[in-house]
Amino acid sequence: MPLRSRGIALLLAFAIAGLSVAFLSLVEGVTGFQLFVGAVIPFSVSYLLIYITFEFLIFREINKLYNVFEKLQKKDLTFLDKKPSKGSFHPLKRINDEIYIYATDRQREIDELQKLAAFRREFIADISHELKTPIFSAQGYVHTLLDGAIDDKAVRMKFLKRAAKSLNALDKLVHDLLTLSQMENGSIRFHYEDFDLLEIIPEVFEQLEHKAERREISLQLIKKSDKPYMVHADKDKIFRVIQNLISNSIKYNKDGGIVELQLDRNKSDITISVRDNGKGIPADDIKRIFERFYRVDKSRSKEKGGTGLGLAIVKHILEAHQTKITVTSSVGKGSVFSFKLQKAVNPVATIEEPTEKINSMD
Ligand SMILES: Nc1ncnc2c1ncn2[C@@H]1O[C@H](COP(=O)(O)OP(=O)(O)O)[C@@H](O)[C@H]1O
Ligand SMILES: [Mg+2]
Repeated sequence: MPLRSRGIALLLAFAIAGLSVAFLSLVEGVTGFQLFVGAVIPFSVSYLLIYITFEFLIFREINKLYNVFEKLQKKDLTFLDKKPSKGSFHPLKRINDEIYIYATDRQREIDELQKLAAFRREFIADISHELKTPIFSAQGYVHTLLDGAIDDKAVRMKFLKRAAKSLNALDKLVHDLLTLSQMENGSIRFHYEDFDLLEIIPEVFEQLEHKAERREISLQLIKKSDKPYMVHADKDKIFRVIQNLISNSIKYNKDGGIVELQLDRNKSDITISVRDNGKGIPADDIKRIFERFYRVDKSRSKEKGGTGLGLAIVKHILEAHQTKITVTSSVGKGSVFSFKLQKAVNPVATIEEPTEKINSMD
């Protein structure tokens, strides 16, 4: 119930007027008119003063507090859109401001938690969907074999091979998921060392050469000098980044396409760019390709053995190196993925540290 300042002002003004009349009546020879004036003036003055003081300095603020509480109870948070008056010296106004700040903080926390819950729900749905595909496929082949296809020599080997392929895809998916989650909870440690990029690039090329050759795609390394390209980074993780990018450039390229890995020395860092003249990525998809399970062309990517996690892992690794990846792409012409790595502190010496091996993805 809101408090009434008028009632309190009336009561107090009556009391003050009563007191002044009582005192006046003790003075000898006071006329009735004087007593009347002695009652009216203190009454009106004190009524006005008390009313104004209560109404404007106390009750208005208290009523505002009531309103805020009522709205909080009803979970009506529209009042949070209005900013509080800053720097007030009035204690009640300050309480109001404090409540405003408290309510805004809680609201922000609630929003954040709701967003996280939605993200988790979506992620679990995605994982289940991704796991379902290879499991169903392998299950289908195995059951068909058990139901009699095993006796058919022509079909037997084909079905077994297909079941094995699905299980390999499942293994790759689980492995990538594990890597991502371990990176997120910090159980994969990064071991930074100084090393030459030219130590790992030929190895990546060698691993992916047969894939490229099968589709007559040429892999080229473009560099301005034969001097070492020394960087300070985690060698195994950067190996994985380059491997993922080149593997994508082969997978999403046309037959007979070109994949170039270019190294450029800058003042304090080295730029690594992977360029292809493949199908390119539409502008709307570019900002989403680093999300888990996001694929521009779902069916084609799966057909090519992609888990949809490669670029999410790449992004994680590069973020841990305090760097980020940039993409430029035009549909039908090709894409360029590039990132920078800090140059080695000591450009000649290579400091060896024990490094943790993570299996390659593609
Ligand atoms: N070089 C590229 N050219 C065209 N599209 C690409 C390229 N690299 C990545 N993409 C797109 O980004 C998606 C996400 O890539 P990635 O996370 O590596 O998953 P995937 O397992 O599908 O390769 C791919 O499905 C593909 O659509
Ligand atoms: Mg990939």
